[in-house]
Amino acid sequence: MDSLFTYRKIDEKIISLLRSAIGDGNVSSDDEKLISFSHDEVPSSSYKGHYKAEALVFPESSNHVSEIMKIASENRIPVTPRGAGTGLSGGALPAFGGIVMSFEKMNRIIELDEKNLTVTVEPGVVTSEISKLAARHDLLYAGDPCSGDASFIGGNIAENAGGNKVIKYGATGAQVLALEVVLADGTVTWFGGKRRKDVTGLDFTHLIAGSEGILAIITKAVLKLLPLPRHSVDLLAAFPDPETAIAFVPQIIKKGGIIPASIEFMDKKALELVEKYLNNPVPASDAGAALIIQLEENDHDVLERQYEKIGALSKEHGASEVYVADTRSTKDRIWQTRKAIPEATSFFYDRYTKEDLVVPIDRVPDLLAKIKEVCLERNLQWVAYGHAGDGNMHCTVIGPDTEDWHEILLIVQKKIYSAVIEMGGTLSGEHGIGFKRKGFMKLFLDKKHLELIKSVKLAFDPGNILNPGKIVDWNE
Ligand code: MLT
Ligand code: ZN
Repeated sequence: MDSLFTYRKIDEKIISLLRSAIGDGNVSSDDEKLISFSHDEVPSSSYKGHYKAEALVFPESSNHVSEIMKIASENRIPVTPRGAGTGLSGGALPAFGGIVMSFEKMNRIIELDEKNLTVTVEPGVVTSEISKLAARHDLLYAGDPCSGDASFIGGNIAENAGGNKVIKYGATGAQVLALEVVLADGTVTWFGGKRRKDVTGLDFTHLIAGSEGILAIITKAVLKLLPLPRHSVDLLAAFPDPETAIAFVPQIIKKGGIIPASIEFMDKKALELVEKYLNNPVPASDAGAALIIQLEENDHDVLERQYEKIGALSKEHGASEVYVADTRSTKDRIWQTRKAIPEATSFFYDRYTKEDLVVPIDRVPDLLAKIKEVCLERNLQWVAYGHAGDGNMHCTVIGPDTEDWHEILLIVQKKIYSAVIEMGGTLSGEHGIGFKRKGFMKLFLDKKHLELIKSVKLAFDPGNILNPGKIVDWNE
């Protein structure tokens, strides 16, 4: 096992090999830079150890990535690919030092193909730039992670990022038609193509999407586009308590007869935190919980009928108030509240664990009840919000102000996880396993499943140099 994780340290010779392969300006071993590129959005207080890369590389092309991988594989140096650093699982953390490969210089939108409805991009493009370009052509790029104004598309694909429109359009992986990748030995190849169907061989495109950089490095992606819906409306329904709000979620689709683009949940604590953080009143902040329901249509009259129906249904199912946002500013106000929850949480607290649990939609009330029970037992606070339409809850449990806060949170996590397993749920819906959650994988997947993940990893990367130390724990 040890030999799988025995790596060469980076010395002057490796630095000069990297410099001559991709140019002096694209390689750095500046200590401050190394530190700032050595973590993502998981607070470093979550880990007991410290992790830092030995070199930072900024490739400008697939060819550069290939040259770096040749040096890394010939010298057995770990390589951790990194997007914008907005990840939530420690995926970009260089667990074994080595090289961190940043994609900030590979940020071109290569082509928008209006006939095939595709856009081809490099991994360092900021996600919202793709949506904006598509919208200028009356097209929709449907991937919509909350961090879309900062995250890179390469990271979204590597994590199979979800976000706010999964219920209608699927997660990032569902938008991917093809990937150019660089393999561990430096080979450049393509999986998939500009085609809507493909059963020729195994579906490596969608194996790479969500593989968190442990199998191959994404250097280009062909993404699917759709016609841009002409009109949209956001409803904010205020409920007296989380139970009533959540119980309404399946009814939106069943009784409403439509699939909204988003169904998002915020509990009272989330609403209060954001209000305090923004220092500004937020809509429904006095409610026990709230749902955002986003509807999209091409025909304005159809949309109006839909939101009237969903508004009336909300009231029938216990909503105390329904706000209709149909202008840019009212919509922004609602979404600003939802999107500010993570920021507000990390502003006020630094000892917490943010969960990314998924359960079948009819078990979300049970999940919320369990979280409440487990937190109250220990006198802990929690913030619950997330993608209610997907059964995906981001419950953030705040650690106590005591030295043993790591241990306490671990006990709480394990109690919640065993309930999630009993409900038929899973550990992560969209944030990924990375470094943060790999220790819990054995609770959710059986031994055979974990062995298969390791075999696939080694088939792609026999030297174990691509983002080692992520997803599975090789000591177990
Ligand atoms: C969200 O839904 O807000 C995102 O997954 C990000 C987060 O929870 O930090
Ligand atoms: Zn989310």
